[in-house]
Amino acid sequence: MIKLAIFASGSGSNAENIALHFKDSSEIEVSIIISNKKDAYVLERAQKLNIPAYTYNKKEFDESDQIIALLKEKKIDFIILAGFLLKISPKLINAYPNRIINIHPALLPKFGGKGMYGDFVHKAVVEAKESESGITIHYVNENYDEGAIIFQSKCEITGQDTFSDVANKVHKLEYEHFPKIIAEILKKYSEKFGD
Ligand code: GRF
Repeated sequence: MIKLAIFASGSGSNAENIALHFKDSSEIEVSIIISNKKDAYVLERAQKLNIPAYTYNKKEFDESDQIIALLKEKKIDFIILAGFLLKISPKLINAYPNRIINIHPALLPKFGGKGMYGDFVHKAVVEAKESESGITIHYVNENYDEGAIIFQSKCEITGQDTFSDVANKVHKLEYEHFPKIIAEILKKYSEKFGD
């Protein structure tokens, strides 16, 4: 069984979609959900899904020792960032090299970097009069949104689209592709390393 930890800071609709996708899998399990916000809606979703959830503050994320200890104790193989807003510490990246995956709600390298998250991204895309946006799934390294790109998918933007129309289109792509791409990555990983 490959075990996943999902990190999320907000609503957690992607976290829930991923958990439901693997609910009956005998190969992949969402074992824990971790947040940096005590009142994040993702924690309620975790409870409904019966997935143990944990919250750590920014200092604890920066130091990472407690979090790494938990991940090891739970035998977590991969970390999935689904709307997680804090920077991942070098210690955590070293503990999980090429095993931390993020989704960004735009076509990187455009519209990435510090402060570019959620609706800020979609507003910037509309202001720039882009004719397309989409999702980028990528490995996580020390810099925001700069790790190797694994997958992208695009949607069209019309002149009439508001930022929330763009957000809806992007969310649709996230729900459709993120669980499948995670499954593909993990399949390759288990072919290589066995399980
Ligand atoms: C998603 O658009 C994700 O791409 C971005 O943050 C948003 C999180 O939404 N990084 P949710 O919490 O999964 O509903």
